[in-house]
Amino acid sequence: MTKTQTDATAQPKSSTTGEGSLEIRDSRTGKTYTVPITDGTIRALDLRAIKAGDDDFGMMTYDPAFMNTASCRSAITFIDGDKGILRYRGYPIEQLAEKATFLEVAFLLRNGELPDREEYDKWVHDITFHTYVHENVRKFLEGFRYDAHPMSMLCSSVAALSSFYPTANDIFNPQERHISMIRLLAKVPTLAAFSYRHVKGLPFVYPDNDLSYTENMLAMVARMTEPKYQAHPVMARALEVLFILHADHEQNCSTSAVRGVGSSQVDPFSAVAAGIAALFGPLHGGANEQVLHMIKDIGDKKNIPAFIEGVKGGKGQKLMGFGHRVYKSYDPRAKIVKKLAYEVFEVTGMDRDLEIALELERIALEDEYFVSRKLYPNVDFYTGLIYRAMGFPTEYFTVLFAIARTAGWLAQWEEMLLDKEQKISRPRQIFTGHDERPYRSRLL
Ligand code: CMC
Repeated sequence: MTKTQTDATAQPKSSTTGEGSLEIRDSRTGKTYTVPITDGTIRALDLRAIKAGDDDFGMMTYDPAFMNTASCRSAITFIDGDKGILRYRGYPIEQLAEKATFLEVAFLLRNGELPDREEYDKWVHDITFHTYVHENVRKFLEGFRYDAHPMSMLCSSVAALSSFYPTANDIFNPQERHISMIRLLAKVPTLAAFSYRHVKGLPFVYPDNDLSYTENMLAMVARMTEPKYQAHPVMARALEVLFILHADHEQNCSTSAVRGVGSSQVDPFSAVAAGIAALFGPLHGGANEQVLHMIKDIGDKKNIPAFIEGVKGGKGQKLMGFGHRVYKSYDPRAKIVKKLAYEVFEVTGMDRDLEIALELERIALEDEYFVSRKLYPNVDFYTGLIYRAMGFPTEYFTVLFAIARTAGWLAQWEEMLLDKEQKISRPRQIFTGHDERPYRSRLL
């Protein structure tokens, strides 16, 4: 940043390219500073030169919850919340959901390009042949209480994997990074399915390497006495699409957790466990569960108008599955999920709760309250209904989300590691506590 002694008023130099500079006048000193603008952004560190005196630390920005701070440069996922656009590495989510497989998308997120046939076959082969976990992991999972939450089990067992692969902490070795990523993509579904079986009191089902990624997941969850489990193709494809939709969503809470923890240069198993912990929270991965509770409380289509009036009355009740911090139009994933719900319900039979959901959506989208606030259905509005129709218990929904998001977390983790500008994540604070005071014991 350059410093001038003029009082010139800030003039935007380029309104469209995001390049130019910002003039800042400090009324404490009368000094004016010129801060370069790149990509519509100023560097917070450039503000450090703004000082009220020689012993001043320099200007900081205050941004709780990172409402307006870019923490990284990323080439992985693009979102335009006003236009309802979501792209992975440039490819529209609609096209990927319709045509790609989840593992193809996982390759794309990590490598930046779609795999050719040879690359894809190797990628799928490697992931498929790392699906087994060490028998001690199985014993570890058996130690959980019968009613343990499957997210706690998944989080702990993924963290435990780091102790089985001690060389995974050699994170600047590309081979080590690669095999850790393969292992995580391969073993997270196994750990997730084992967690499900444990809670149900059912014997663990080992991976079947003849099956596709989602078919194997469904088999490990649902297989009973049959020697070979054949998932219904509509269900296997529905899970594939949901995994694709959940695979990445740029710098959300859990991804920021993975990047933040990973910035300490810990192994990726530990970093991904941190992401799972963040996803567990009801404000992040748990909203689809809340949609089902809300629909159950409404109970009947005739109660919807009164429910909507209650939401508008500001009594603290929200229309769950509506609204988004970034999307101010229809969440592009919600459109795909709605169509998918019809396909799944064609197999399982129409659900009364889906009828309530459709009516809720219809009424809300015509209501001035929701229209003026740009509140549209988000991805969670219909996913819970689909997962339940597929037979998954409510507390398992976030586990399915975590399996898919592992692909995004790993791509973001590696991008962070290879980014020369990144360092250990370490925010500043505005100290609001006591000034120095002498110790006087109060134990008398
Ligand atoms: N129902 C009723 N009113 C709402 C809703 C809703 N679902 N969402 C926002 N509003 C209102 C809010 O009360 C506020 O009104 P006013 O201006 O009169 O005070 C206005 O809309 C703006 O809302 P906000 O709280 O400033 O928006 P936000 O960006 O802070 O919150 C949100 C985003 C997703 C937390 C919020 O929309 C919400 O709580 N939705 C329901 C929960 C949900 O579906 N979450 C899933 C998000 S998608 C999955 C994920 O990202 O993990």
